[in-house]
Amino acid sequence: MTDAVVAAARAALEHAYAPYSRFRVGAALEADDGRVFVGANVENASFGLTNCAERVALGAAVVAGARTFRRLVVATEGRAPSPPCGACRQALAEFGLDIIVEAVNAAERRQWRLGDLLPDHFGPADLGS
Ligand code: THU
Repeated sequence: MTDAVVAAARAALEHAYAPYSRFRVGAALEADDGRVFVGANVENASFGLTNCAERVALGAAVVAGARTFRRLVVATEGRAPSPPCGACRQALAEFGLDIIVEAVNAAERRQWRLGDLLPDHFGPADLGS
């Protein structure tokens, strides 16, 4: 079940800063060119400022020049693998709906196409006149 992208997400989870929720999340986003960008959740005493792991990874990828992605792995430690929150789905959808989203915990893996997690989403095309 383990591959390099899953391993990267799990390694990122180890660096999560989640002293308030104690819910650690790691993300690894694989670009079409093969590069893998990681993120972890970064919480804040002002709770609403928390950054999700997925958007931390996406930001790192975009800053590095990546724009197209094939796969996102989200690693958590809960009883079931956790799909990305709605805000992260929207942020990822900016860059395409065909990204494969995988959620893993220690025992299980779930997989979706991003577009299936966010049907009828608002996107760049909606801004056109
Ligand atoms: N979290 C993520 O990092 N990604 C998600 O998609 C859902 C939630 C984080 C935010 C917060 O630090 C903790 O998980 C509990 O909500």
